[in-house]
Amino acid sequence: MFLNKTRLLILYLTVNLPLIMVTTASVQPSNDHKIKHKNSTKEISSLIVVDVQNCFINGNLALIDSSAKQDGADVVPIINHLLQTVSFDVIIYTHDWHPTDHISFYQNLNKRRQYLLGDQNKNYSLFDTVTYKGPLVQTEQVLWPLHCIQDTNGAKLHKDLIVESKSNVFHVRKGLNSDVDSYSAFWDNNKQQKTDLDSILRRWNVTHVYVTGLATDYCVAATALDAIDLSYTTYLVEDACRGVSLETIDKKKQEMKQRGITFVQSSQVKALVDGAICNRIYLILMSFSIAVSFLLK
Ligand SMILES: *[C@@H]1O[C@H](CO)[C@@H](O)[C@H](O)[C@H]1NC(C)=O
Ligand SMILES: *[C@@H]1O[C@H](CO)[C@@H](O)[C@H](O)[C@H]1NC(C)=O
Ligand SMILES: *[C@@H]1O[C@H](CO)[C@@H](O)[C@H](O)[C@H]1NC(C)=O
Repeated sequence: MFLNKTRLLILYLTVNLPLIMVTTASVQPSNDHKIKHKNSTKEISSLIVVDVQNCFINGNLALIDSSAKQDGADVVPIINHLLQTVSFDVIIYTHDWHPTDHISFYQNLNKRRQYLLGDQNKNYSLFDTVTYKGPLVQTEQVLWPLHCIQDTNGAKLHKDLIVESKSNVFHVRKGLNSDVDSYSAFWDNNKQQKTDLDSILRRWNVTHVYVTGLATDYCVAATALDAIDLSYTTYLVEDACRGVSLETIDKKKQEMKQRGITFVQSSQVKALVDGAICNRIYLILMSFSIAVSFLLK
């Protein structure tokens, strides 16, 4: 009789508790049919925090001064909340990290006029797009103000962003080559050179990436598009990104949707990531409960 009660209790707890955990953790928002239930026990998730650096928040290229008037600082508490509540397997911080003679700076236009395609004496303004024929490759380039120069305060991550030193936390620098810009954290804009981001994710067997940060229409979009090209299941965490111009944000979002990137809100990420973990725990407990019930027979 005692044995029976114990057996029933253990069976009840081991089967039902995880079941409750799974059902509450994987509640899906009904308005987004694109989010699929996870059936794999091998999902490895990475959060990618793109360029949450001073230059884009309160520096020379502060997003708040651009046409969309979005404030880069807004993403900091949202990303921090994700970092504190969601068990990502791998966390990546990317850094725009330019030398002073970088091709992306308007201030360097005069030194590069011999490479301009078309009228080499034409007067350009900040934020104009030019085409340089070289010296490395022909490349289209927006003429940005000085930003994210290596080892300057502008290149530092925002002081309130949570950055832990753990074995699963990595920093990826991009835009180091003077002669080609790099919006994506995977490749430079002309796919001349890869950063080590893809090899880090592969080494950790990452299958799913959640992209956040600055700026939606440039480095965030470029990183997310390369991620899906490289076969990662890719999510854009929409409220954890801020951009430059409403027109390009809209254009890039359409391109991302068409290419198969899923848009989610930060409030949905925990269920997606930890849902997968709950499934793993549930399977382990299920087999444990079967074993126990046999032992008690
Ligand atoms: C779910 O299972 C099916 C069939 O085994 C598989 O083809 C599919 O890739 C799985 N989906 C995920 C998200 O792992
Ligand atoms: C560029 O601007 C300078 C100074 O404003 C002017 O003297 C020059 O003629 C302009 N060049 C062209 C090609 O418009
Ligand atoms: C990735 O998967 C391989 C093969 O299954 C495994 O040997 C390796 O330990 C995994 N790496 C990590 C970091 O889990």
